Formats: sequence, structure tokens, C-alpha cells
Amino acid sequence: MSDKRIVMQGIGLSKRFGHVVAMDHADFELASGEIMAVVGDNGAGKSTLIRVLSGASVPDEGKVFLDGEEVHFRSPLEARLVGIETVYQELAVATEMDVAQNLFLGRELRKPGWAGRWFRQLDKAEMRAQAAEHMQALGIRIQSIRQKVETLSGGQRQAVAVARASAWGRKVVILDEPTAALGVRETRQVLDLILRVRDHGLAVVLICHNMPDVFEIADRIHIHRLGRRATVVDPKVVKPNQVVAIMTGALDAASVPSALLAPVAA
Ligand SMILES: Nc1ncnc2c1ncn2[C@@H]1O[C@H](COP(=O)(O)OP(=O)(O)OP(=O)(O)O)[C@@H](O)[C@H]1O
Ligand SMILES: [Mg+2]
Repeated sequence: MSDKRIVMQGIGLSKRFGHVVAMDHADFELASGEIMAVVGDNGAGKSTLIRVLSGASVPDEGKVFLDGEEVHFRSPLEARLVGIETVYQELAVATEMDVAQNLFLGRELRKPGWAGRWFRQLDKAEMRAQAAEHMQALGIRIQSIRQKVETLSGGQRQAVAVARASAWGRKVVILDEPTAALGVRETRQVLDLILRVRDHGLAVVLICHNMPDVFEIADRIHIHRLGRRATVVDPKVVKPNQVVAIMTGALDAASVPSALLAPVAA
């Protein structure tokens, strides 16, 4: 991984909710052009970690770095402005709007000239054209860009959410369980889409519970346990049962053979 550089980093991140310690001095690291899978038991603190990395939540302790510079996001918008797009576990698509409207949600294009400037008229034709082009570039097959999202299948909805993130993400796309609750064919579609997003040069953080999916597409696997990073392993050498053993604590992270680890060559 010698040609890789660290795009995003978290050091010593902690987050408490009353007496619940959701995150306990967690570290995180994401290299350019990689898919970093984040795995861990329910409640291990994975969503809390990505909420902090994406500005949805402010950590009680710890630091976040983007391209080596410390950042202090107070909202997802602040993270989006510097190139980090996130699809949260509670999927955020506006079901009553069509595909093109969803892709441009919050970033609508105005008509050129006085119509857009004075009357704030939306340039729907241009948004539809760009949306269709983007969906095609990502290989997402949807009959019409004017189809309301509520009429799409679960997989297509996920695809729209991932497409929106990849359309606007300039550095990092974070996906919290994008294939949960999807069928085999729909999961396939979303996984292929994530691979294409990486091939477009973005770094991807993928929270996923499904080991075969993780092993198929991840470049590295961050294992989260009890609110912190237990270790980072290389899917090319580690076995799924070893990952599960580290996740559950059956195998102590400190005694994982170094040949299975996947540190970034800084
Ligand atoms: N807003 C909140 N208020 C109180 N407790 C919270 C809050 N958010 C998270 N927690 C707690 O923090 C812990 C970590 O939650 P988190 O959602 O990060 O886990 P997770 O690893 O994403 O789990 P899952 O795999 O089920 O999605 C849990 O015990 C959860 O109940
Ligand atoms: Mg979660």
C-alpha cells in the first residue's frame, strides 16, 4: 500500500450518552482509493464512529483529521462542504420526490439568467439530464429519472442514496449498512455500485454485517469492539471465522498474528 496516503483519520474518539459509553477512545484510518469495511457486533459503536467522522455527532474527546488537517465538524453539511458524503443507517431519501430531485436535494440548480436569480426558478431539465448521466455512469438501471422514489424497490432506493453520495463526495463516501434488508440481487447491485465508486477514485467507508460481502469488496477490514478499534486486518490473508472471533472477543486483538494485519504505510 506504499502509494496510498491517509485521507481521513480519527484519534482517541470518545462519545458518551449519559451513562452509555458509545465510543471509547476509538481510532480510525482511511487511505485514498480504498474500501475500508467496518465490522463489529450490534452496539459496538460503528454508527457512532461514522456519525462523528461525518459531522452528525460531535465527539466528547479525540481528534478528526482530513488530509492531515484537523477538522471540527459541527454538522453533516460542514463535512459535505469539504467532500465527505454519508448515507446513514436510517436511510435518507425523500420518497415522495423523484430520482433526479433526490440526487439534487439541497443542491438544486437554478435556471441561468434572471429566471433563476430573481425568481429562483429551478432548472429541472438540466438536473434531469445530469442525474440521468450520473446514474448511467454508475450503471444503475432505473426506468425513468422522473420516477418517484417511493415506487422503487429497496435496492433501487439504496442505489439512489449511494448515487447521491458518490455524485457529491469529492474525497470520502461513508455508507452505514447500505445492503441491510436487501435481497441477493439488490445487494449485488449496491456492491457493484460501491466498487464503481471506488474506481472513480473515492475512498469508501462501508459498515457491513455480511462477511461474504465484506470479504468480496473490502481492501481492509476495521474490526470494532466495545466502542473502539480492536484491529485492522487484511481480507486477502485473514479468514472470516478469525474476523468473527476478534469481533466477539473469542480471539484477543493483541494476539492476532501480524501477518493478518493491514496497517497503512504512512
Ligand atoms: N443517541 C444515543 N443515545 C443513547 N445511546 C446511544 C445513542 N446512540 C448510540 N447509543 C448507544 O451507543 C452504543 C453504540 O451504538 P451504535 O449505534 O454506534 O452501534 P452499532 O455498532 O452501529 O450497532 P448496530 O450494528 O446495531 O448498528 C449502543 O449501546 C447504543 O445503544
Ligand atoms: Mg449501526
